[in-house]
Amino acid sequence: MTEASIIDGKAYAERLRARIALKTADLRAATGIVPGLAVVLVGEDPASQVYVRTKSRQAEAAGIRAFDHKLPASVTDEHLLALIATLNADPTVHGILVQLPLPRQISADKVLRAVDPTKDVDGFHPTNVGYLATGQRDMAMVPCTPLGCLLLLEDRLGSLSGLDAVVIGRSNIVGKPMAQLLLQADATVTVVHSRTRAIAEHCRRADIVVAALGRPGFVKADWIKPGATVIDVGINRIVRADGTSGIVGDVDAGSVRAVAGAMTPVPGGVGPMTIACLLANTVTAAFRARGLEPPDWRKD
Ligand code: GUN
Repeated sequence: MTEASIIDGKAYAERLRARIALKTADLRAATGIVPGLAVVLVGEDPASQVYVRTKSRQAEAAGIRAFDHKLPASVTDEHLLALIATLNADPTVHGILVQLPLPRQISADKVLRAVDPTKDVDGFHPTNVGYLATGQRDMAMVPCTPLGCLLLLEDRLGSLSGLDAVVIGRSNIVGKPMAQLLLQADATVTVVHSRTRAIAEHCRRADIVVAALGRPGFVKADWIKPGATVIDVGINRIVRADGTSGIVGDVDAGSVRAVAGAMTPVPGGVGPMTIACLLANTVTAAFRARGLEPPDWRKD
C-alpha cells in the first residue's frame, strides 16, 4: 500500500502570498491605493495574540497595510462598536477582522453584524453568509479557512463535480461555509456533527473528508475510503504522556496516512492557507471598493 501524498498547504500559501504581493503592487501602481487590513484583538488570549502577530507580519510582506487595535478584555460592547463604526468609515481600511473568541460580556453576533459587509474579510456577516448560500460569489466575502480548503482541494483534484464530500463539524466559521462551497463546486455534501448517529459510515462513502470539529485524532483510518482526500482543519494543543506538548489535527494522521490518497498535515496544511486567504480577501475588498474586477485567486 502506498502512503497518502501530503498536501503542502504551507507551500501553496507561500505561492498565493507571492501572487497577492504582485496584485497589490499592480493596484498601487494603477490607482495609488494600498489595501488596508484592520485587526481587532480583545483581551490577552495567547493563541489569538500569536495569530494576530502573524497576520500583521504577512500582510505587510504582501503590500497590505496592517492596523492593529488591541483592547482590554474588560471592554464594553459600546466601545467596541464605536471602534468598528470608525473603521467602517475609514477609506484606508478595506478589511476588518475581529479576532474570535470575544470575552463573554460581549455579544459576538452584535459585533459581527456591525462590520460593513463589504469590509467583512472573515465573511461572518449575515449578508455575506446569504451571498455565499445563494451562490452570489461576486458579492460575497468567503470565510478564510473554508476558502483555503477549497483551493487545496481544487488544486489536488481539479473538478469536484459529482464527488461525495463529508464535512465533520457544523460551525459558522468552518463547517457550514465549507458545505456551501463544496455544494457550489457540484459535490454531493453531507454535514455530520456531534449528534450524527453513524459518522464513520458516512465518512466511508466519501471521496473528500473535511474534519473541522476540534477533537484530536478523532478521524480513524477505518473511516476512510482508500484513496480519499482528507483535509484536516483541527488545531489541537495536546500534552503527551511523556509531558511534552504539541499541535495535532482532528485526524489520526499516523493511521489515516496508510489509507488516504492525499491529506493535509498539521501543522503546515490548512493553517497557513487561512491567513493567505485573509490577505486575498482584503485585496479583493480593495479592488471592489474602487469598482475594479478583483483577481481570480484560483488561477496561477
Ligand atoms: N478565531 C479562530 N478562527 C478565526 C477566524 O477565522 N477569524 C476570526 N476572526 N477569528 C477566528
